[in-house]
Amino acid sequence: MDSSVLQTTVVPLLYLLSAVLFIFGLKGLTRVRSARRGNAIAALAMLIAVAGTLLQQEVIHWRWIVAGLAIGGLIGAVAALKVAMTAMPEMVALFNGSGGAASALVALSQVWSKKIEAGAPGTPLELLGTAPGVTTVLAVLIGTLTLSGSVVAYMKLAGKMRGAPILLPGRHAINALLLLASLVLGSLAMATVTDVATLELLLWVVVAASLALGVMLVIPIGGADMPVVISLLNSYSGVAAAMTGFVLQNNVLIISGALVGASGLILTNIMCVAMNRTLANVLFGGFGAEETTGGGKHEYQNVRSGGVEEAALILESAESVIFVPGYGLAVAQAQHTVRELAEELERRGTKVSYGIHPVAGRMPGHMNVLLAEADVPYEQLLEMDVVNPEFKNTDVVIVVGANDVVNPAAKKTPGSPIYGMPILEVYEAGTVIVIKRSLSPGFAGIKNELFEYPNTMMLFEDAKKAVQGILTELKEL
Ligand code: TAP
Repeated sequence: MDSSVLQTTVVPLLYLLSAVLFIFGLKGLTRVRSARRGNAIAALAMLIAVAGTLLQQEVIHWRWIVAGLAIGGLIGAVAALKVAMTAMPEMVALFNGSGGAASALVALSQVWSKKIEAGAPGTPLELLGTAPGVTTVLAVLIGTLTLSGSVVAYMKLAGKMRGAPILLPGRHAINALLLLASLVLGSLAMATVTDVATLELLLWVVVAASLALGVMLVIPIGGADMPVVISLLNSYSGVAAAMTGFVLQNNVLIISGALVGASGLILTNIMCVAMNRTLANVLFGGFGAEETTGGGKHEYQNVRSGGVEEAALILESAESVIFVPGYGLAVAQAQHTVRELAEELERRGTKVSYGIHPVAGRMPGHMNVLLAEADVPYEQLLEMDVVNPEFKNTDVVIVVGANDVVNPAAKKTPGSPIYGMPILEVYEAGTVIVIKRSLSPGFAGIKNELFEYPNTMMLFEDAKKAVQGILTELKEL
C-alpha cells in the first residue's frame, strides 16, 4: 500500500475506530452484567491503537519494540496471574505509576531526540512547537508525581510503610514551592535554554521536584483512604497520557488519556460520596492521624455470640435473608460457600438477596466482582439505596466479614470518624448474624455498636468456615 495513504488515511481511521471502541468499552464497564464485554472491547481498542502506531513510519528499531513487548507482557501476565484478589488495589497503584512514568519518559524522549541528541540550535519550544513544548512540561510534572505518589500508595497499602498520615509541618507551603519550581524551571528550560548541558540539568531538577511533590501529596493521607487516592492517581496518569498525546500530536493518546482522566475523577467522586467525605477532606484532612486505621482495642459489653448450629436454627425458620458481604468475605474467599448457602435457603423457600455497599471491601466494585465470580445472579445484588428500605421487613441479615459499612455510629454518633457515611442499616432487621473472627475493628479502626445490639448474634469464625458450618447444619435440619 502507498505509504502516504497509510499515514493519511489508514492510521487515522484505525485511531478513530480505537477511540470509539474505548468509549463503548467504558460504557460496558458501568454495569456488572456487561463489564467483561466492556473490558474485552477496551482491550481490542488498545490492540488497534498499538497496531496503528506500529504502522507509522516513525518506528525505527523493531528489536526494541519486540523486547519491550516481551518484557512488559511477561511482567503484566505474571503480576495478573499471581496477584491475590485482596491485593488488587496495590497492583493497580503500581500500574498507575508505570503509566505516569511512561508518559513522562515519552515526553522527555521528544526533547531528547529533537534537541539534545540532534544538537540542533534553538530552544526546545522552537524545535517542538508551542503546544507540544508546553505540554511536555505538564506531562513530565504529572507523570512523575503520579509515579512517586503511586509508589507511596502501594507501600502504604502493602504495609511496607506506616498507614497513618505523616503530617509534616509547613507541608502545604513546601508543596506549593515544589509545584512552582517544577512549572517555572520547566517553562524556562523549554522556552529559553539553548545549550544542552543546562537543559538537561533543568529537566532533571523538574523530575526531582515532581517526584518529591508526589511523595509529599500522598504521605499525609491515611491508609484507609488509599483506594480513593489510587483512583485519583489513575486519573492523573490519564491526564499525563493526554499531555503526552499533545506532545506527540497523537489523537488516540489524547482521547484515551482524557477518558482515563475523566473516568478516574468520576470514580474518585463516587467513592467520596459513598464515604460522605469531600475530596479536599480526603486529600488534606489527615484522616486517621490518631492511628484510627487497623488495630485498636475497644470495650464491648453484653455481646451475644453463638455457633453455627444456632445460626442454622435461626435461618431454618427465616422467610427472608439478606447477605451483607464485606472485606472479610474477600479475605476468607467465602463467596462460593455463601452462594451455596443461599441456594440451600432458596431451595427451602427463603427469599435471598445481597446488600452491596459501594465501598465495602478495599476497591470499587470489590463485592460485585467476588460474587460475580461465584455466579451469584446479578438481580439478587441490591445497591444501598434499594436494600436499605428492605431491612425492616427482613427476618435475618447475615453480615459476612463486613464491619464499617454496617456500623450504626455513622448515623448515630456525631464525632465518630465515619459519622455521616451512608451505611447499610442492617440493625433494622429481625436478627443480625455477624460473622467475623473477633471483635477487632474494620479499616476505620473504630468500635461497632452493632455488636452490642440485642438483635445481633456474633459468630466468631473465619467467614468461609462459618458459612460452610451453617450450611452443613442446615442440611441436617
Ligand atoms: P472493614 O470495615 O474493613 O471490616 C472487615 C472485617 O472483616 C474486619 O473487622 C475483620 O474482623 C473481618 N475479617 C477479616 N478477615 C476475615 C475472615 N477471614 N473471616 C471473617 N471475617 C474477617 O470492611 P468493610 O465493612 O467492607 O468496609 C470497608 C472499609 O474500607 C470502609 O471503612 C471503607 O471506607 C474503606 N474503604 C473502602 C474503599 C473501597 S473502594 N472499597 C475505599 C476506601 C476506603 P476480624 O478481624 O474480627 O475477623
